[in-house]
Order: sequence, then C-alpha cells, then structure tokens
Amino acid sequence: MKSILMVCLGNICRSPLAEGILRHKLLDAGILDLKVDSAGTSNNHIGQHPDSRSIKNALSHGIDISKLRARQFSVADFDSFDLIYVMDSSNYKDVLALARNDSDKRKVELLLNVKWTGKNIAVPDPYYGAGDGFETVFRLVEQACDEIVKAVKSDI
Ligand code: 4NP
Repeated sequence: MKSILMVCLGNICRSPLAEGILRHKLLDAGILDLKVDSAGTSNNHIGQHPDSRSIKNALSHGIDISKLRARQFSVADFDSFDLIYVMDSSNYKDVLALARNDSDKRKVELLLNVKWTGKNIAVPDPYYGAGDGFETVFRLVEQACDEIVKAVKSDI
C-alpha cells in the first residue's frame, strides 16, 4: 500500500485541507488502499482541530475536515510514509533537516511540483491573510491532488 503525508507549518490550515481533498478524491475514484495523513513541522498547534476558516472552506466544497487533529512531523514519519508532500520551501527545509539519509530525502517534494514540475511554487500560508487565501489554497492543492489520483490510477 502506498502512503502519503501532507506537511505544513502548523497542521491547522494547509495540510489538513490537503489531506481532506486527497482523501475525498481518492474515495471518488474508488481508491481505498492509500493511506493519507498530515502533520506540521511546528509543535504550536498539537491536538487542535483545523483552523475554522479551513474547516469552512473545505465544507463549502463538500469535504469535512472538522474532526482532524494537528500533530507534529517526526523522524518516524520517514518510515511510515512513501511520499511526503510539503507546502513551501520553509517546510521543505525543516523536514529535510530531520532526514537521516538519501532515502528519507528522496521522499520529500513540494506538493505543487506534482502539477507544475520543477517550478517550486509554494502553497501560500493563509493564516495571517484575508479569508479568500483559503480558497486559493484549495484551488492549488486540488490541482496537485488531481495529478496524484491520476498517478495512483495509472499505477494500479
Ligand atoms: P499552516 O498555517 O502551516 O498552513 O497550518 C499556519 C498555522 C499557524 C501558524 C502559521 C501558519 N502560526 O504562526 O501559528
């Protein structure tokens, strides 16, 4: 079974949304054997539900992420997941700093490189911005998740 971990800073805005979107799309595609989770590089929000703006945005697209709880990324995640998708270059740096070897490092990729290969585009942090930052996150992440589902389908 393949497994994918979505990572951002707090695990309350972007990565829970990414987790919810990917889960939803996999279910829609009838793919039930792929493990999806999310985590944050920081310990600031451990145990918290996603930000209410993220929950609201997801719900407006028919996705319920309200039950998720934030957790911190740990070295053990390199063993538990095949692919680790980070939202921005700061997450990338923080996760790579914990990598023990090249195999760990090879698992880490900017999420939007799945859609826009090599462009290193970040999923912008919506935490301090206006409300529609969450819709921007949704639209970007959704496009990457469509590519992931396509890739998983063609792998079957
Ligand atoms: P996230 O957003 O990394 O997408 O979950 C943030 C959440 C919290 C903070 C920053 C970004 N914060 O500074 O507390």
